[in-house]
Amino acid sequence: MSAKPLLIVAGIGNGTGTGAATARVFSKAGYRVALIARNAEHLKHLVDELASSGGEAAAFPIPEYTYDAVEHVWDNIVEHAWPSGQPSDLRVALWNVGVNVFGSFLTVTAKDIQASLEVHVTAGFAFSRKAILAFKKNELDVNGSKGTLLFTGATASVRGNVFTSAFAAGKFGIRALSQSLAKEFGKENIHVAHVIIDGSILTDLSLSRRPGEAGEAWKANPDLRLEGESIAKAYLYLIQQDRSAWTWELDLRPAHEKW
Ligand SMILES: *[C@@H]1O[C@H](CO)[C@@H](O)[C@H](O)[C@H]1NC(C)=O
Ligand SMILES: *[C@@H]1O[C@H](CO)[C@@H](O)[C@H](O)[C@H]1NC(C)=O
Repeated sequence: MSAKPLLIVAGIGNGTGTGAATARVFSKAGYRVALIARNAEHLKHLVDELASSGGEAAAFPIPEYTYDAVEHVWDNIVEHAWPSGQPSDLRVALWNVGVNVFGSFLTVTAKDIQASLEVHVTAGFAFSRKAILAFKKNELDVNGSKGTLLFTGATASVRGNVFTSAFAAGKFGIRALSQSLAKEFGKENIHVAHVIIDGSILTDLSLSRRPGEAGEAWKANPDLRLEGESIAKAYLYLIQQDRSAWTWELDLRPAHEKW
């Protein structure tokens, strides 16, 4: 079958972080890329950029990350990927979605908790279910895998802290799901991996939080922050492992971290 393998990424932000970097790296590695995010405009920019460098990408805006909306968008992708009645070769799915709910515990509202649990966990369950169902239909690839489901984690996936009570609750939850899935579906040759990003990633947003010279110095020093493209290369490494030595969890941090 000559169809390109397909990568689905959920969580693109404004196109300057891990999700977008993964789309670029996988596109270069020969994948067709389906992108899910809330902001249709940022999605379109990224799709145009990938297309202009010879890639094949499509945008799937989602109004919000709920269980139903994720199922719905996933069904749209699958329809889109069969333009000529040819089955799509979905091989990799990345759940890179996050919601910013940071604040001291006593300021956390019911809405914050609900947002963190719904976006990180409940919607992540829907994404995982669709990915697993699709992978189950695949033939094994050359390295013995039917597909890889990746999760972008954070320091807060394993460590609570001041200002992260609501955020960490969601990130712990989705990490737990990834472990359960790795156990249950490893036996069916489906690889599930969770990657703890233990530090700040260089994005437009993280840079805008460090105005002035401090931000410039931080940007200029790759030992202090993570580069989206470097994270994406680690994802590519994970999906190429053969199944006699699969990683469930990886953690990545800049060489000179101080935490
Ligand atoms: C992304 O968001 C940040 C922070 O809101 C902003 O400074 C930056 O210009 C945005 N980048 C793009 C490509 O839209
Ligand atoms: C299979 O494994 C080899 C060696 O690690 C790697 O170069 C190749 O990209 C892998 N192929 C797939 C489809 O994962």
